[in-house]
Amino acid sequence: MSARKAIIPAAGFGTRFLPATKAMPKEMIPVIDKPLIQYTAEEAAASGISEIAVITSRGKAALEDHFDRSPELEEFLQAKGKTGLLEEVRKLSTLANFTFIRQPEMLGLGHAILMGEKFAAGEPVAVLTPDDIYDCPVPCTRQLIDVFLEKKATVIVLGRVDKEGTKKYGIVKVKRQLSDRLFEIADTAEKPGPERAFSDLGILGRYVFTPEIFGAIKRTPVDSRGEIQITDAIKVLLADQPVYGYLFEGKRYDCGNKLGFLEGTIALALKHPEFSSELRDLINQMLS
Ligand code: G1P
Repeated sequence: MSARKAIIPAAGFGTRFLPATKAMPKEMIPVIDKPLIQYTAEEAAASGISEIAVITSRGKAALEDHFDRSPELEEFLQAKGKTGLLEEVRKLSTLANFTFIRQPEMLGLGHAILMGEKFAAGEPVAVLTPDDIYDCPVPCTRQLIDVFLEKKATVIVLGRVDKEGTKKYGIVKVKRQLSDRLFEIADTAEKPGPERAFSDLGILGRYVFTPEIFGAIKRTPVDSRGEIQITDAIKVLLADQPVYGYLFEGKRYDCGNKLGFLEGTIALALKHPEFSSELRDLINQMLS
């Protein structure tokens, strides 16, 4: 079983970032000089993914344009001798083979992933949510793929969360711990809250699924909001096959909320070679 395909769900309204997202896809919000979804696609490509399906909806055309060639812009940059920028722009369409699939109605993350069933065509598939920027020594999705290849079973990323996190993320119940970072999963719950949470291990937006996930999604009941959650589909999948969780190594920024987005922007800017030391000085000045 190889893992060369990935789905990036990008169909949501981005309500947490309104009004910025009224006429612009949330996934196009830039962190420094790259839109969120570019970080996601770059992580997938660096993890060995060669085929990416982006799940979109109405008003998301900018996502297609971003990963397409732009001959006029390229000619312009060439004529001006801006070779660095030209390379940056060209590189985007060569990151992977991109497919764009519409989700006609927003019926939850599980339903969005189901839109990629034909694209997966019976192969394993990674899922990366563009809300999360991972900054890891080994790309986060690659960490999961390595476990996937060893276990030949679904692997989901885990991170320790606080009380608030139990309201924001899917939470797992551990069957057994196999090593410092690897867990076999017994059960899952979508955003259970602190009273009902099985553990402090949250599912943080990266998955590598066996092809059986699509059948599991179809058998998953809709939740109280009429949506199909991927966390609930994993529960269904668990009835048929083992699922593993991997405590990733590295740093993650939850750019799906304003504070996390600011944290991610500042943290990545402080590492940016172009202005890291100047920014440090500016922040120190502001705080003094
Ligand atoms: C989704 C999933 C949730 C997961 C989270 C990770 O929630 O439903 O299980 O923990 O992504 O970012 P959302 O952030 O779309 O509300």
